[in-house]
Amino acid sequence: MDREKKEILQEFIGIDNENNEDIMEKMEKFSELMILYNCAVREVRTKFEVLNEELSFRAGRNPIESISSRIKKPFSIAEKLKRRGFEPKVEAIPEHLNDVAGIRVVCSFIDDIYRVADMLAKQDDITVVEVKDYIKKPKLNGYRSYHMIVEVPVFFSDCKHITRVEIQLRTVAMDFWASLEHSMKYKKESADRPDIAAELKSCAETIAATDARMLAIRKRIEALQPEEQQG
Ligand code: GTP
Ligand code: MG
Repeated sequence: MDREKKEILQEFIGIDNENNEDIMEKMEKFSELMILYNCAVREVRTKFEVLNEELSFRAGRNPIESISSRIKKPFSIAEKLKRRGFEPKVEAIPEHLNDVAGIRVVCSFIDDIYRVADMLAKQDDITVVEVKDYIKKPKLNGYRSYHMIVEVPVFFSDCKHITRVEIQLRTVAMDFWASLEHSMKYKKESADRPDIAAELKSCAETIAATDARMLAIRKRIEALQPEEQQG
């Protein structure tokens, strides 16, 4: 681990602090917070699994292909707080970070994304804090996905904690592009190559066009089926 990384982590867990009890208290608070995020992720994941099961039963196909989740690592939490100008303290996490708990929902078709996102948003224990629709308005580099920040209540023995979760919804094709683009972003040789960026963007557009065609094909097939079989 390089020196700068080490310093950020030390500041975060308070290693410079002489008082050992203080460190233990901080570590405990941090662990409890991570349990909370972990539980929030499980709740939201279950909600998508329930929707997928019910919709598959109705329509005879899965609107959700896969769900993955992650909890942000301590270093990334400390580093992001610092980068955004906040003190890297445990108390600052729920207030300033929305993406400690993250869920990625990979859908089959574009309309499935809006369908499951809308169904989640309508559930009465979910509060939608923010939506970024990078499908209707893709990022300049070509990135497409539907992002939501939601709040979900997590019930502990003595109280209810309202916890934030970041949700990314995308099609299989968008996920393919985002995964590869993400892995290549870290290769610094390509940082200053507009030709590579343009080629990646062009791939994103091809993928978006294919997603639209696949949806149109599905709709044509559905139109051929008797009404009671359509979903
Ligand atoms: P972050 O600091 O990245 O969290 O920015 P933000 O708070 O403005 O959030 P935004 O909704 O724009 O992006 C959140 C997450 O979406 C990122 O952490 C990535 O996982 C993903 N994402 C956003 N932009 C891109 C992109 O251009 N390429 C890829 N591969 N992923 C992206
Ligand atoms: Mg993020």
